[in-house]
Amino acid sequence: MIPHSKPSINFREIKFLNSVLKSGFIAEGKLTGKFEQGLADFIGMRFATAVNSGTSGLHLALLALKIRKGDEVIIPSYVCTAVLNAVNYTGATVKIVDIDPESFNICRFAVKEALTNKTKAIIVPHMFGLAADLRELLKLGVPVIEDCAMAVGATYKGQNIGSFGVISVFSFYATKMLTTAEGGMILTNDKKVSDFVRDLKDYDNKPDYHLRFNYKMNDLAAAMGLEQLKKIPEFISRRQRIAKMYNKSFADSGLILPLPVQNKEHVYFRYVIRSKNSADVLVEKLQKSGIEAKKPVFRPLHQYLRFKSSDFPSTNEVFKNTISLPIYPELSSQKARHIITKTLKAIVD
Ligand SMILES: Cc1ncc(COP(=O)(O)O)c(C=O)c1O
Repeated sequence: MIPHSKPSINFREIKFLNSVLKSGFIAEGKLTGKFEQGLADFIGMRFATAVNSGTSGLHLALLALKIRKGDEVIIPSYVCTAVLNAVNYTGATVKIVDIDPESFNICRFAVKEALTNKTKAIIVPHMFGLAADLRELLKLGVPVIEDCAMAVGATYKGQNIGSFGVISVFSFYATKMLTTAEGGMILTNDKKVSDFVRDLKDYDNKPDYHLRFNYKMNDLAAAMGLEQLKKIPEFISRRQRIAKMYNKSFADSGLILPLPVQNKEHVYFRYVIRSKNSADVLVEKLQKSGIEAKKPVFRPLHQYLRFKSSDFPSTNEVFKNTISLPIYPELSSQKARHIITKTLKAIVD
């Protein structure tokens, strides 16, 4: 079976992890600080705080914006439940909106319609490696939390995503663009926000008491992150090369493809295609031919929450007929060609 996702880990990570283990310093320490600086420099932001997951990062980002019960936070329906959980941790009301079916990103018109005087933030995930319409969203005058879990290295008008919003959050889960097994990072240019999240992620050795968390990263994770960060340009170009192969081979297939977009560099965290066929049927057919294709979002949020389905036409449409094919740096061209052949066969059979 060709797996849907796979982390790229080699002797470099293993060697570094070995030396950290031998050092006896495995909790949060110097390496976490180095990794924070490394990502901040790479993205172009002043302050970085490492945490133990993207979800923890989103939670702290919302708390830093003083979001609480009675406030409203806008998020898209077509995203994983981590985003919904983070809002629910704060007690705020979640406003779920539809997406743009072309980019799979949050629909700026739907966001505009959902705004009220209680809206305190918009969480904007850059879906599958492609930047959302940041310029338009930022103009709405509500703080934007960029969710960069799927899009390290993607750019918008030549600038790294993660450097536009008041806060940006990253995830380093096993299958992400770069991994620390589990982990996350919060970036900001605002010193107060940075101090706030840094204080909240660690409960120990504090002069006062208030509710804090244990959301810390550890130096084993940071060591992995440092090695992975060095390889990110290479990871991105390999993903783009595979996407180019797919785009070329599927050009006349009738599939709707994630083609390059002007002013946005796509990093192809996922290679997501839409067809006339049912996604469930295609996934099953491909699995039978040894290819682990998947629906890229397990279930839209409005379906979990039983919100009125007709308010989410694009999410419904996309969910029905969209699948994600294997794409990752270690996928060989030979395997990519095999995936192309089987996919072309599956859509006509
Ligand atoms: C868009 C998005 N945001 C947040 C998260 C949560 O990240 P984590 O799994 O590190 O908590 C994910 C999931 O992986 C995600 O895809």
